[in-house]
Order: sequence, then C-alpha cells, then structure tokens
Amino acid sequence: MSREYRLSENDFLVSQTDQKGVITFANEDFCKVAGYTLEELVGKPHSIVRHPDMPKAAFKSLWDTVKSGKVWTGYVKNRTKEGGYYWVYATVYPMPGGYMSCRRRPSDMEIADAEKLYKTMR
Ligand SMILES: Cc1cc2nc3c(=O)[nH]c(=O)nc-3n(C[C@H](O)[C@H](O)[C@H](O)COP(=O)(O)O)c2cc1C
Repeated sequence: MSREYRLSENDFLVSQTDQKGVITFANEDFCKVAGYTLEELVGKPHSIVRHPDMPKAAFKSLWDTVKSGKVWTGYVKNRTKEGGYYWVYATVYPMPGGYMSCRRRPSDMEIADAEKLYKTMR
C-alpha cells in the first residue's frame, strides 16, 4: 500500500548536501514529510528518499546542472520512511562545499503532467 502525502501550501522542505550528495542538513518540514529525524538523515546519501518511479535521467539532469554551477528546477516524487510518497517542485542550488534544495507543493496539474512525462522516461 502506497499512500500519498500531499504537501500543504505552507510546507517548505529544505535540505543540504556535500559535494557527493550526502545529507548535511534538513529542516523540520523535510523531516516531518519524509518521516525521518534529522539524526537519521545526516550522513546518509540523498537517495535515501529516492522513489523507484523516478527516471534516472531526471537525476542525471539535476547533477549535470548543479555540477556546472547552475540552478536546477524540477518535479520529484520522493519516498517516505513508511513507504508512502510525496511530490515536490524542487530548486537545487550549488553552494560553497555542496548543494541545497528548496521544495514547495506542486499543483495537482503539475503533478499529473510530471507523472505522465516521467512514465515516458527512463
Ligand atoms: C541538494 C540535493 C538534493 C537532492 N534531493 C533529492 C531528493 O529529494 N530526492 C531524490 O531522490 N534525489 C535527490 N537528490 C539526488 C540524489 O543525490 C541521487 O542522485 C538520486 O536520488 C538518485 O539516486 P542514485 O544517484 O543513487 O541513482 C538530490 C541531490 C542534491 C545535490
């Protein structure tokens, strides 16, 4: 059984990683939605919240973009600790020593479009 957690208007999920994508920080909203404590997240690869429905190509695009010093935006379906899922609209920034991602609630239509697109990708 896979339950969706739909972000609220006010949810704003932030995380930071080192150069390799290992989590160095996550804010309260991130922990609440993903279902982990900060202690469980810090030191883990960010793929800890990876959902199998996400195409590899999306993350290749993310990494190619931020590694070249640019800002990546896109829709991401993530997995919660309990095995549910949640969609976010993410903006990923390069910063000194690593990267930061800030995420907000996508609209229902944005989610439907991303779902459709990702089904055609691998
Ligand atoms: C700042 C930052 C935030 C990231 N956030 C997510 C995320 O929310 N969900 C996710 O699946 N991958 C995220 N990634 C990408 C992961 O590092 C990883 O590339 C992805 O989960 C795919 O896993 P894999 O590279 O082991 O195949 C993020 C990367 C960075 C640099």
